[in-house]
Amino acid sequence: MNRREFVSTSLLTAGAMTLPENVLGEAVGSAFPSEFLWGTATAAFQVEGAWNEDGKGESNWDRFNHTQGKIRGGATADVSCDSYHRMADDVALVQRMNMKSYRFSISWPRIQPTGVGAPNAKGLDHYSRFVDMLLAKGIRPFCTMYHWDLPQALEDKGGWPNRDLAGYYAEYAGILGKHLGDRITVWAPFNMPWTFCYLGYGVGAFPPGRSDYGLFLKAMHTVGLAQSEGLRALKAASSKATVGSAYGMAPAYPKTNSEADGAATARYHAMNNVFFLHAAMTGEYPKAFVGETPYRQMGFQPRDEKILKAPLDWVGFHYYTRRIVSATNGTGGAGSASFGTETELDGSGSSRDDLTRFHAEMPTEGPLTDAGLEVYPQGMYDLVTQISREYDHPVIEITESGCSYLDAPLESKGGGVPDARRIAFFRSYLAELQRAIRDGARVRSYHAWTLLDNFEWADGYSQRYGLTYVDFRSGKRMPKDSALWYSKVAATNRLDA
Ligand code: FCB
Repeated sequence: MNRREFVSTSLLTAGAMTLPENVLGEAVGSAFPSEFLWGTATAAFQVEGAWNEDGKGESNWDRFNHTQGKIRGGATADVSCDSYHRMADDVALVQRMNMKSYRFSISWPRIQPTGVGAPNAKGLDHYSRFVDMLLAKGIRPFCTMYHWDLPQALEDKGGWPNRDLAGYYAEYAGILGKHLGDRITVWAPFNMPWTFCYLGYGVGAFPPGRSDYGLFLKAMHTVGLAQSEGLRALKAASSKATVGSAYGMAPAYPKTNSEADGAATARYHAMNNVFFLHAAMTGEYPKAFVGETPYRQMGFQPRDEKILKAPLDWVGFHYYTRRIVSATNGTGGAGSASFGTETELDGSGSSRDDLTRFHAEMPTEGPLTDAGLEVYPQGMYDLVTQISREYDHPVIEITESGCSYLDAPLESKGGGVPDARRIAFFRSYLAELQRAIRDGARVRSYHAWTLLDNFEWADGYSQRYGLTYVDFRSGKRMPKDSALWYSKVAATNRLDA
């Protein structure tokens, strides 16, 4: 298929092709399972723009990106991809790419401008129309209920370290279930909960810009409670709701084979990968991490185990890159705060309990993306098989995976965007995912991050993760070569299409 065909016609959908008969979890030959859901993902704050329209309240990220010095280049997401107004274009793009699933997020301050009280009808109506558009095209709406944009009014009440937010969040979840739960059946309460807690309250790179390890632990616990209270509220409002997750995870490898590095790696995994998963499945935080001091710092109360236990129906997580972990190396402090490549120092000399200490770094041996993340395909296999093993072979959704490369349209290619490195990235990561499926992992979807180049948090517009190039002056969308490649993979269910 060439670019013109892609842009002007709608492709065969995957279902229309003749595929080997196979079932979830059994890849035949080089094909993915026949029911496999190919998808892309976005987040409201990163693509929508329209930051103060139709009754939307201010979010923590609005406040942060309107504060000088917080975002690279002084960029804001006030307009970004303008997806709020261009949702029909976006859905058409998703359809032309033969996607079967679209993971998007709902902006809480569009639904409850101050985070509490009656819902804003215009906000609900927007997402209701959006979901209808997806369903009309045969695309599964996968809803992330919180992808980092908190009503600022709740940040003003202390943000996530304030335990009351679990209750406010449950109320919001109930509203979503009541108004959208007749059509949305797949929900993830939080995108990358560890990340917004750590970068927001632990090291200050994200809003509200606090650097306090104790606040970080408190935020983690409130989010843990909110995840479970949200699940219950959603299910009470919608009998069709299935609830999973969109955790950020990095397979962790010990630096040496010493016992101390092995234990530190287990602590990393407990804290950064499975903290919330373990809590939902068992009602406890993982043993490698918890102890008396962190429990006290979190503000853990008697009977919280009961609240925390709310088993997920399926398990969703992202995979971008890996970490190498060692025991303390005496460097102390919190570490550097660059999103995705952050280094966590061991915390020695700080108030951190022994159980929360480790030293984690992203290695730079492999090729690096333009965002500086190491390309490490084998990590996909390792992570997926590890989670499968540890949590009794759950149904898994890969909620994000992708790379930033800065390739731009080339006049000499008729305005096409040749991005061979992105194609190579997806091919290698997907091959490892396929290997994990062959070895028994029950993976039912893959969501490429991301549909469109967009506002990349504190990096502003300096990174481009999209399968589609966006000209931010005109809003024009141009599918990159990787979009053409990925749409073929989705249509044929094979990497060698
Ligand atoms: C993920 C985030 C997403 C985007 C990508 C690059 O961790 O969920 O919003 O920033 O990283």
